[in-house]
Formats: sequence, C-alpha cells, structure tokens
Amino acid sequence: MEHADRNPVSFHMPGHKGSRIYRENGYGDFLDKIMDCDITEIPGADNLFQTEGIISETMKKYENLYEVKKSYLLVNGSSGGLIAAILACVKPGGKLIMARNSHKSVFNALGLASIEPVYAYPEEAEGCGILGEITAEEIARCMDENPEADAVILPSPNYYGICSDVRSISEEVHKRGKVLIVDQAHGAHLRFFEKYGGAGGFPESAEKQGADIVINSIHKTLASFTQSALLNLCSDRVNPFLLEDRLQAIESSSPSYPMMATLDINADLLEDAGERLIRQWAENLDYFYSEADRIPGLAVLTPRNLDRTKLNIDMSAYGINGNELEELLMERDIFIELVTGNIVMCMTGIGNTRGDYERLLKALAEIAAQRQGVMAKCAELKQAVQPKVLTRVLQQRAVPAEKEFVPLKEAGGRVCASSLIPYPPGIPIACPGEVIDEDVIKYIKERREAGEKVIGLTAEGTVCVGK
Ligand SMILES: Cc1ncc(COP(=O)(O)O)c(C=O)c1O
Repeated sequence: MEHADRNPVSFHMPGHKGSRIYRENGYGDFLDKIMDCDITEIPGADNLFQTEGIISETMKKYENLYEVKKSYLLVNGSSGGLIAAILACVKPGGKLIMARNSHKSVFNALGLASIEPVYAYPEEAEGCGILGEITAEEIARCMDENPEADAVILPSPNYYGICSDVRSISEEVHKRGKVLIVDQAHGAHLRFFEKYGGAGGFPESAEKQGADIVINSIHKTLASFTQSALLNLCSDRVNPFLLEDRLQAIESSSPSYPMMATLDINADLLEDAGERLIRQWAENLDYFYSEADRIPGLAVLTPRNLDRTKLNIDMSAYGINGNELEELLMERDIFIELVTGNIVMCMTGIGNTRGDYERLLKALAEIAAQRQGVMAKCAELKQAVQPKVLTRVLQQRAVPAEKEFVPLKEAGGRVCASSLIPYPPGIPIACPGEVIDEDVIKYIKERREAGEKVIGLTAEGTVCVGK
C-alpha cells in the first residue's frame, strides 16, 4: 500500500502499470467488484480444463487476435505453460534441444520426465555484452548431432528483448520432422506491433514465423494480472489432447477467476482499442529513443533484432554501474526490471503513459548533468557485462546421485548437483551435471557482492555438488 501511494513509475512487470488503463477504458467496475468476481466453477462459470462457456469465449477471442488454431488461458504464468508444452512434446527419457539461456521452468521440466537436455548456445549481442540470438545454424547443428531429439525450445525475445530468427529456425526444425516451442514470455505484444506498430522496427511474432507452440506472458507486457498467460497452439504437429492433459496436470485446480477475467478484459481491450493503444506505445518509444539520444554519455542499446519495448540503458560513461543507476532512479520513484552489470533494463508495457517516459528521461538527464565532469575520466569503465559462462560449453558429467554442500570458493572442478540461478533473469548459470569452473564462481561472487539473489547459494555461502 505504501508503494502504491508513492505514485511510482513502473518500468517492470506487469504491463498494465496500474489501474489507470482499466479505468480509462471502461473496466473500472470490474476493479470495484473484484472480490465479488472471485468465484469458483459454479454453473455458468465454465471450467478451465473442460471449456464450453465463458472461458471458451475468451479463448476464441485470443485465437482470432493471434490467428492461431487454439489458445489456452494459463494461470500459473508462462512457467506452467512451458512445462506442460515440454511434457506434451518430449517422451519420458527423451531428448530436448533447448537454449542454454532458457528460463528455469524449462530446466525444471526436465526432471519431471527424465528428459535429457541438449544445449544450444546463444551468441553475444555484438558490442553490447549481453546475450543475443540463437542462430538457425546452432539449432541445426544440435539436431544433426541428436536426431533422436523430439523437440526444440528457445526464448524469443530473450529477457533483454533480443529475438532470434524464428522463421529460419522453424524451417530447420520442420525439415527434420520435429516440433518447435517458442518461449515468447517477453513478447506477447509483438503480434500487435505487427498489426499496428507502424513501419518496421519490431521483430515479427513467433506465431507468424512458423512455431508450433508459442507461450506468452500476457501479464508481462499487456494488461492482465500477474501470473496470467496464454499458450498458443499454431499447427497440427502437436496433439491437443495430450497438451490439455499436461496443462491440467501442471496447473492449479482452483484457477483464479479474477485473473482469468483480466485475460478476458485484455482481449477486449486489444479488440476494441488495440490499434490506438499500440500506436501510442510505439509513439512513446520513438519519443524516448530520440530524446535519450540528446543526453550526452547515455547509451540506449539497439542490437540487431531488438524488440524496442525493452529499454537497455547504460550510463557507464559516467562511471555509474547498473546497480547505482537503479538506486538513482529509485530515489526518483522510478522502478526498473533488471540490472546486468552496467545495463539497466526498463520494461515498458501497454499501460505506460507519455508521462512515465518523460519522468524517466528527466531523471536520466538530471543524473547525467550531475556527473558531467567525470565523464571523460570514466570512459574506460565501459566493460562487457555478460559472463562468458552462458555462451560457451561447460564440461558435462552425469547428474550426481549423492550430494554434499561445499563453500562456493571450493566448488571449482566439482559437478553441480542443484542449479545455481541468479534472479532475475532466472537463467541457471550452472545446471546439475555441469562442472563448476572459476568463471562460474567469479560470476556468482560478483552477483552476491552486487546484492543480487542467487537461488541455490545457501545463506552460509555453500553450494550443492556431487559427493
Ligand atoms: C524468458 C522467460 N521465460 C519464461 C518466464 C516465466 O514466465 P512467468 O513469469 O509468466 O511464469 C520468464 C519469467 O521471467 C522469462 O524471463
């Protein structure tokens, strides 16, 4: 409540950015009656796992909006959809070709069906020091070396907004008779930028580029409640009954009606006002990028295939690293999504107003003005921020059956027995079976020193390794 009362600017999830977008577009009555809408599967309320009424109407809206065969509402976020999709497409004990920078939910799916991962490695975004795209060549290499693999999964966009060439990847995958699952958790809006976003500048949605299953976190960038998401089935290569069975196995048997109602409202918003809202969003982004260009020493990264709704901001020319910049913005009640080294990622959403972008620009200009004198001296502080760890292969061994905890500094050369996951972005830096090396140890130490969370590192500073 204290946070809400501060009139903060949100450049983090969720995408609605507060009640304004509902109230201004005629959905204020829902907010006023929200507890009265918190019901269960009474007559007339349909059933998420056997839809034939109001929930199937919402599904139909999304099927038309995304132009796909079937849309499933998700109440456990994209995480639940990703796990269900993998379990529907990969047989127990089978192989999955997966991006090494996949979200932790993808790694979690492996253990549920003894699935063996084959890692496809992303490139580094040129000149930016952050993870970039996964190439079609890399996917083809993995498939040729592992012809028995059932499916391929990768994130596009990744957390920073960098998209892969899903069209070329899907051609490679389908040529070999496999299934392509795209984790589009960060790109639910891309389909609408395709339609209304103005000339060029935005990567196409995975739905349009030939993926078989696409999972969208509607909550991250559009206008539904946190945790609500959507799984789009786009081809006949996946058996819908198997998929539905896995969805009911993974998701809560008490799906939240307010959450599903916000998915319905979001669909109505896109149908009725989508063109206006997306055009405004695109104009605000154009405004931000062009005004930011005038602030000396401020770099806003624009690597190839970037979804420009993610603002990757770097003020290291002033000797300000990402954590310091986050602090300086928070002092001005501006809250951001992610820090990686020198880069602060501001996640924009459908609910951001022109005023939000103005406040961010004003804050950045102020910070730059205060530091003007130090700029020249600090130019050498510019550094690559992403660890090499995720773009190269760690040695692989069998996943340890017997485990023990050792201090992080003594973990070099030991086999990881429980994932080590800096959060955000929630991408494991070492997975079970990978040999922990000095780069991994150094990276985790740096994350901890920067005050960031690393899941898998205990409060005593130990990690779980094979005995
Ligand atoms: C790339 C990626 N995929 C999937 C997810 C999971 O999405 P959700 O929070 O909707 O479960 C995330 C969460 O941040 C993510 O970054």
